[in-house]
Amino acid sequence: MLSVQGASLVKKAMPDLENAAPISSDWKPGQPLRLETENYVLRSLTMDDLGERYQSWADDAELMRHFGSGDMSVRRMRKRLPAYNNRDAFHLGIFCKRTGRFIGYYFVYVTLTWGLARTSVLIGDRDYWGTGAVLETRAALLDFLFDTVDLERVWGRVNAQNTPAVFNYKAHGFQVEGVLRDAYMLADGTRTDQVVFGLMREEWHEQRARGA
Ligand SMILES: CC(C)(COP(=O)(O)OP(=O)(O)OC[C@H]1O[C@@H](n2cnc3c(N)ncnc32)[C@H](O)[C@@H]1OP(=O)(O)O)[C@@H](O)C(=O)NCCC(=O)NCCS
Repeated sequence: MLSVQGASLVKKAMPDLENAAPISSDWKPGQPLRLETENYVLRSLTMDDLGERYQSWADDAELMRHFGSGDMSVRRMRKRLPAYNNRDAFHLGIFCKRTGRFIGYYFVYVTLTWGLARTSVLIGDRDYWGTGAVLETRAALLDFLFDTVDLERVWGRVNAQNTPAVFNYKAHGFQVEGVLRDAYMLADGTRTDQVVFGLMREEWHEQRARGA
């Protein structure tokens, strides 16, 4: 069973996908989303969440190294948050149940007419790196996207050098669908390939059935 034990959060555990399933989601399109796993709550961010902690992640160049060219500052996100309408765009915070800490976030962009979504994740609180937080919470998010929103495909794009993100996609059964050569420019001006990872609904359900 996946659990965060004692004071030490630096505890790697295999994902227990059964426990990662959303415990509660009576969501309707356009309403704030809340998903719960054994150790975390994922919920739509509000203006109140866009504070110092959020800004500190935006200011952390190492954290943002592979996270795109967008301005993730509180100032900009306060303007953009209303666009995350909980219908085809979600900005979800990840909150640790045990500590109450806001530890990171997801972006989810849904194309409803085509039945697909693109996701990205950031764990801003380094205490939670290597704890399985992404695997636990993204499993719940995948359940939500495939089973509640009824999508066919979830995908993501990650820098080839971003080893933890690549490992996480593979751990969830995402397939490498292509490589975008030199598609990303790092802050120092060097270019890097991006890998497109995709997961189809039936592939996710097969994993669930296997209890992976
Ligand atoms: C990407 C991110 C969310 C991953 O966090 P995490 O899940 O805690 O990552 P972990 O440290 O557990 O690493 C994931 C896996 O990669 C492996 N890994 C990490 N670095 C590695 C390396 N240099 N060599 C080999 N394996 C490595 C880990 O061992 C782990 O594998 P395991 O699950 O089999 O043990 C986090 O690094 C982050 O927020 N980065 C900044 C934002 C970002 O880049 N987001 C992704 C873009 S969408």
